[in-house]
Amino acid sequence: MKNVNILAIESSCDETSMAIIRNGCECVQLTVLTQMDTHAEFGGVVPEIASRMHTENITMVLEETLTKANMTMEEIDAVAVTYAPGLLGSLLVGVEFAKTLSYIYKKPLIAVNHIAGHIYANNLEKKMKFPLLALVVSGGHTDLILMKDDYVFEHIGGTLDDAVGECYDKVARVLGLKYPGGPNVDKLSLEGEPTYELPIPMNDDSFNMSFSGLKSSIINLVHNETQRGNEIRKADLARSFQDTAVDQLARKSVLAIKKYNIKNMVIAGGVSANRFLRNAIQQVADEYNVELTIPRMTYCTDNAAMIGAAAYPLYLKGEFADLTLNATSSDELY
Ligand code: KG4
Ligand code: ZN
Repeated sequence: MKNVNILAIESSCDETSMAIIRNGCECVQLTVLTQMDTHAEFGGVVPEIASRMHTENITMVLEETLTKANMTMEEIDAVAVTYAPGLLGSLLVGVEFAKTLSYIYKKPLIAVNHIAGHIYANNLEKKMKFPLLALVVSGGHTDLILMKDDYVFEHIGGTLDDAVGECYDKVARVLGLKYPGGPNVDKLSLEGEPTYELPIPMNDDSFNMSFSGLKSSIINLVHNETQRGNEIRKADLARSFQDTAVDQLARKSVLAIKKYNIKNMVIAGGVSANRFLRNAIQQVADEYNVELTIPRMTYCTDNAAMIGAAAYPLYLKGEFADLTLNATSSDELY
């Protein structure tokens, strides 16, 4: 069978990324230009700056991607792009660029949901086997999703309030750590012990999760200790937080594995880069005889390779977008 090369574009937040993905599973080339250092000065992503930087860099990222792959646009079979969810201005840069390429080079256009992208990053490691349980953990999502087939997403549970990544970022800020918070909390917690007692969220049999109470308890703890003139043992607090957050994700995964008799599982989204989470879910998988796939670090955080992987099943089904495609900040995956 002829190879299918998809040029994928991701610009939903602060990474301008392009990739060429062959047959939905082989990454020929991945380019990621991060704006992290620029946004770090502001303690978080500034949407206006993000979209402006995408505009400045996107042509260069395309050139680099094609040059390093030693390919031309003529060898590309389709152009895929993240159209939702994310920062509207950032998404629009990618969408308009993809539409232009599709029009000029007469290539089919594929609209990819960013969260589907995070899940399909796992196909770059090993082809997903259905039915499977996907634990989605990112800056905006914390969900348990049952997939019976390609693009069949059943939401079985998730956070009722904050996403776990958002909570990591907030805790990082309270601990005085730099943006991006998640990886810094992860790093610091390696030096700590779980000596702070924190409330255990959602200690029940539901698939609901919650992170805002945990976040508030840490904010209050830091505030109260500071007022009393007590020193915060930052590494210990980071570790205590991390253990509590990861424990909740692992507990709820176990409930889902048992109820739905899960044999295959994947983790998806930026927080899947977290070592504690990776270890905890691997332990769960070992205990319940579940085959677990976790993307390598490069494919955990935002990147276009995952978008190319998620575009492939749509290419096979002939589900193409047209030039009326628009970006949307909302999320309609499930
Ligand atoms: O999936 P992602 O790149 O963006 C969204 O689609 O939302 O996830 C970003 C989130 C941020 O909240 C970031 O702090 C978190 O993932 N994150 C981590 C780690 N690496 C990234 N959280 C905990 N530990 C990490 N190692
Ligand atoms: Zn993401």
